[in-house]
Amino acid sequence: MTGAVLTVTELSVRFGGLLANNEISMLLPAQSISAIVGPNGAGKTTLFNAITGAIRATSGRIDFGDVDITNMSATARGRLGIARTFQNLSLVEDLSAVDNITVGLGRFRRSGLLSAMLSLPRSLRTDCATRRLRA
Ligand SMILES: Nc1ncnc2c1ncn2[C@@H]1O[C@H](COP(=O)(O)OP(=O)(O)OP(=O)(O)O)[C@@H](O)[C@H]1O
Ligand SMILES: [Mg+2]
Repeated sequence: MTGAVLTVTELSVRFGGLLANNEISMLLPAQSISAIVGPNGAGKTTLFNAITGAIRATSGRIDFGDVDITNMSATARGRLGIARTFQNLSLVEDLSAVDNITVGLGRFRRSGLLSAMLSLPRSLRTDCATRRLRA
């Protein structure tokens, strides 16, 4: 236990002959804001992809708090609270900016599709809770 929110240990990502991330180690302390900077092609997006599970690391280890997430799916990492945006934003054009953000809060919903279509109380309660989260 390091007290870090995220601990990356000797993480490498290889695309065929190209080593995009070469044994990266870093530690993000709790209650902090950190940034990764580097020139085009340095491997920043690759690192984010590996941390969030969009791609698998070739080697190394990633811990989120006390949990080894190295081999977890992106969905499982999301359930633990890891969230991201993408470099190509892929926004839903018909939705407002606020509703686009709300899409990302889907994992907090406690009601399903049918409940939403029928506007059942459970779904309406979830809508209210989501609005409070994004407020
Ligand atoms: N899916 C992939 N397959 C093969 N090569 C890839 C893949 N994704 C990234 N690369 C290569 O890995 C290297 C790192 O790319 P990456 O997109 O991580 O860089 P970046 O730091 O995010 O760059 P930028 O500042 O332009 O966003 C580049 O040489 C890129 O061409
Ligand atoms: Mg990038």
